Amino acid sequence: MNLAQKSATLLCLFLPPLQGAEEEKPVTFSKDVAPIIFENCTTCHRPGQIGPFALTDYKTVKRRAKQIVEVTEDRTMPPWHADPGDVKFSNDRSLSPEQIKLLADWVTAGRPEGDPAETPPLPEFHEDWQIGKPDQIATMTEPFTVPAEGRDIYRNFVIPLNLEKDTWVEAVEFLPGAPEVVHHILYFLDTKGKAREYDARDKRPGFGMNRSNADFRYIGGWDVGTQPTELPHGLRWFIPKGADLVVQIHYHPNGKEMTDQSSVGFHYSDKPTARPWTIVQVPPHFGILQGIDIKAGEKEHLEKATFVLPEDCEAFAVNAHAHYLAKRMELTATLPDGKSMRLLRTSRWDFRWQEDYAFEKPIKLPAGTRLDMLISYDNSASNPNNPTNPPKDVRWGPATTDEMGSITLATMFDTREQKEATHEALRIFLVNQFIDRLMEGNFNGLGGRNAKLVDGQKKLKLLDWNKDSKLSPGERALAIPAIRNSDFMKNFSPIGFE
Ligand code: HEC
Repeated sequence: MNLAQKSATLLCLFLPPLQGAEEEKPVTFSKDVAPIIFENCTTCHRPGQIGPFALTDYKTVKRRAKQIVEVTEDRTMPPWHADPGDVKFSNDRSLSPEQIKLLADWVTAGRPEGDPAETPPLPEFHEDWQIGKPDQIATMTEPFTVPAEGRDIYRNFVIPLNLEKDTWVEAVEFLPGAPEVVHHILYFLDTKGKAREYDARDKRPGFGMNRSNADFRYIGGWDVGTQPTELPHGLRWFIPKGADLVVQIHYHPNGKEMTDQSSVGFHYSDKPTARPWTIVQVPPHFGILQGIDIKAGEKEHLEKATFVLPEDCEAFAVNAHAHYLAKRMELTATLPDGKSMRLLRTSRWDFRWQEDYAFEKPIKLPAGTRLDMLISYDNSASNPNNPTNPPKDVRWGPATTDEMGSITLATMFDTREQKEATHEALRIFLVNQFIDRLMEGNFNGLGGRNAKLVDGQKKLKLLDWNKDSKLSPGERALAIPAIRNSDFMKNFSPIGFE
């Protein structure tokens, strides 16, 4: 007896006879299965979309029925990587246990169609802009060709926005040029012209992943099957005049050569943001100064970071980022009263699916709340996602075969001062990581060993009065202002730029 049958038997034992009799009514495609599939799968599984086959009618669903039961029972589909936990997400794609059981019961019952007249119509899909024509459409300046076969491609494209004044934006919508192969994207803003420089140096359209995004400000992302992004709670994005948009696109080759020229639509707002907000990344800058150094073959490598929020805030979304080796990622908040809350846990991190997890309700985090981040990486040959076989030592870096990792909490404040104090605390967090790396002689993420860093290391060692090779808070007091004003940190804002 399979699990579904077992639970059906159990149900019958506990239900009064009348309902038990109703249970025996066969589950049919038209009445029970179609609503689940059309609502939860067809956004991606229809012709011209990223899903590898269509699930749009009785025939196509019947043909894949067994596989559908497998992937829904093990929760690989619909894709959703946050484990159920302490908080609820408003964009949760996962199916309920009842829906999963219905699909299994249908297969057990022999996949009956039922009365075709009962089959609901397919939802209406918009192939064009979903929330109306944007105020500005920024389109990739050149098309990019995605080969039929081969590894997934991650590539950055610069799109000048040519804004003549600072602008508030209330919604951003992404329109993939070739939806069959565009898997997800991340948006950044660049105010320094760096992206244009990288693009000019790269012969093909756009530029590769071997450039750091540290100079850019991350503004959000889009995943296949996601709705247009509208900021909640009256919040707005700020786009400074002259900023360029950088779109990092993940392409998933699908057997046919495709040409993509995607667009991003901006909806301007005549009102500024209702509240100041920012992103708190733990550790900042995707862990650039975390000193990540994962030895070849290491099965469970842990990276941890702790950041204490200096001001009251309300968190409204969380997002995790790492590359192929990460397995498990967690962010836990411990409030000053000792209450602890898991804001995100993903025990099946998948580099191919990067999404924002929006909280159903904003979560109040008082000043003094401790955020603990943990990532577990698997650099063994038995990790099927390991891009290098045999495994090699992996350090922090922007290429997809390097590693990085952090969890980002989108938070809003009552005052600008609270936001600025939070940025300052993040900056000091980076300064402290810088000091730790120099003291350890781990220059990973700092651009490798160079004369300037070695000199800095010598100076720091002079402050280590008790010669324990670490700087205590007292010993650090002198080092912090010096590092804070160093050339390296000056170019290094915790959120890309202010
Ligand atoms: C957000 C887009 C999206 C949604 C929603 C979605 N899928 Fe998928 N599905 C994909 C993609 C993309 C793949 C290809 C594999 C991958 O990238 O993970 C896939 C692969 C599959 C596979 C093949 C798995 C394999 O191992 O080859 C099955 C079966 C499947 N999906 C069923 C479903 C069902 C059933 C639902 C709804 C309950 C669903 N999918 C919802 C995007 C989606």
